Amino acid sequence: MKILVTGGAGFIGSHLVDRLIEEGYGVVIIDNLSTGKKDNLNSKAKFYESDIRDPKIYQIFEKEKPEIVFHYAARVNVRESIEKLVSGASVNIIGSLNVLENCKKYNIKKVIFASSGGEIYGDAIKIPTPESYLACPISPYGIGKLTIERYLESYFRLFRIPYLSLRYSNVYGPRQNHYTGTGVIAIFTYQMLRNKPPLIHGSGRQTKDYIFIQDAIEATILSFKKNITGILNIGTGRETSVLEIFYRLKRLIHSHVKEKYGPSPLCSFKRCCLSINKAKKILDWYPRVSLTKGLQETVNWFKKFYNY
Ligand SMILES: NC(=O)c1ccc[n+]([C@@H]2O[C@H](COP(=O)([O-])OP(=O)(O)OC[C@H]3O[C@@H](n4cnc5c(N)ncnc54)[C@H](O)[C@@H]3O)[C@@H](O)[C@H]2O)c1
Repeated sequence: MKILVTGGAGFIGSHLVDRLIEEGYGVVIIDNLSTGKKDNLNSKAKFYESDIRDPKIYQIFEKEKPEIVFHYAARVNVRESIEKLVSGASVNIIGSLNVLENCKKYNIKKVIFASSGGEIYGDAIKIPTPESYLACPISPYGIGKLTIERYLESYFRLFRIPYLSLRYSNVYGPRQNHYTGTGVIAIFTYQMLRNKPPLIHGSGRQTKDYIFIQDAIEATILSFKKNITGILNIGTGRETSVLEIFYRLKRLIHSHVKEKYGPSPLCSFKRCCLSINKAKKILDWYPRVSLTKGLQETVNWFKKFYNY
């Protein structure tokens, strides 16, 4: 079976591609390498350096005839989604619709979309937050994710194209970019290894739900193989503060950097933690990698990749 992965040169997309290839699928990638890297590309995958907004991507669908599409290409920086509203939406909304239109035209059997559990619920009161909680995103990035979820639902009802929208929490691990302005673990690790104090936004007491990439990919693969349509949270159900991440990384790296505080960014929430009861029940899955182990593996990768 042939699978198309948009964003397959990025952090999550490239791990997904590796796993799909390991499982014997043929994989085609569309990525414009804006934040993705050639280093991340699996040599067994067929790579098209293209933009998802390009009207000519239909040629890739026509030639490669994929049966499944994982749509993971996006502009991922939440702050940038506010500052560059129109160009952000041109990728995350219009580009996504271009992919979706081709899914319809070329009879794709299932679309799997990388949504965001961290942004889509806004400042949720119910913690851990289940899928049934009202999606009320505040950032343009979160609004883009919700918009595409609504189109996917519409396309399912209109044209019976099955879809899965995976609402990931904060995914971290090897290959995550430290320069896209997202991914506090990647940013802190990179800065501490360079002996630079990373900037802690706000008090640092805000919490997030950090899931290691290996666990996120396992849940992704399991859910794709299930005959289900709709929305699924993928996280850990555990909250960790930004300050705790700072101190844990400091200990692991044996760093002497001091805390440096900056203002809270727009669109930051006090707490974020996803309920994963649905994923546990449907997929018979639970996240296995502890934060201690995940952080160690991430630090090891950064040290190796950046020669520290
Ligand atoms: N990392 C997380 O914690 C997290 C959480 C929730 C959802 N997501 C979603 O998962 C997906 C992957 O995120 P990631 O963390 O791997 O980020 P990433 O930046 O590493 O990956 C995004 C990929 O999309 C590509 N891309 C961007 N614009 C494109 C365009 N116009 N045309 C073609 N390719 C384009 C980039 O080059 C990159 O390879 C995104 O949709 C993101 O919104 C990520």
